[in-house]
Amino acid sequence: MKLFIDTANTNHIKEIASIGIISGVTTNPTLIAKEGRDFQEVIKEITDIVDGPISGEVIGLKAEEMIKEGREIAKMHKNMVVKIPMTKEGLKAVKTLSQENIKTNVTLVFSSNQALFAALAGATYVSPFVGRLEDTLHDGIEVVADIRQILDIYNLKTEIIAASIRTPKQLADAARVGAHIATVPYAVFDKAFAHPLTDKGIEAFLADWQKAFGNKG
Ligand code: G3P
Repeated sequence: MKLFIDTANTNHIKEIASIGIISGVTTNPTLIAKEGRDFQEVIKEITDIVDGPISGEVIGLKAEEMIKEGREIAKMHKNMVVKIPMTKEGLKAVKTLSQENIKTNVTLVFSSNQALFAALAGATYVSPFVGRLEDTLHDGIEVVADIRQILDIYNLKTEIIAASIRTPKQLADAARVGAHIATVPYAVFDKAFAHPLTDKGIEAFLADWQKAFGNKG
């Protein structure tokens, strides 16, 4: 399984990248707007930090607009992936862009049928929104598991990015049911790192060492 970071905050990307656990980045219009910076400038900086797939999302709603924007995004860097919403127009754009060997990430996926359609249209990635599904009392992890089963049965090459991950439990569950990738916000990485028994264990080891040897080596 691979992990991406779901943010446009370059300080957060640098910090998690330095630990060596992420191999890609996903952004969306909300995350870019939150940084209050120019899209091109942020993307350029991200491509300098992480050498892996970086999703930048289109804004247009018509296929022709998305295709045009998608080509521009793809031109920005060899690692760019064009993020496209799961609509009929979106999938038309995915079909055209995939024929041009441009990688796509179909976003705002909430069902296994949507994921199947995206895969058949040629999507490189599909992004089921686990957290938003669970916010509305649906089982987001079951949707991820269903998508994985369908992709495997029909030998479809599309990879699942479990997105909208809000808790360490959702991350662990996405890994358990076979998401190829999870894109994780900084705050969830932070929570998932910590365990009270790890901290307690370090304290006890140090205390025992100091009791026996003082501060020596
Ligand atoms: O980038 C898409 C997704 O991860 C959004 O997450 O928390 O806004 O539902 P969220």
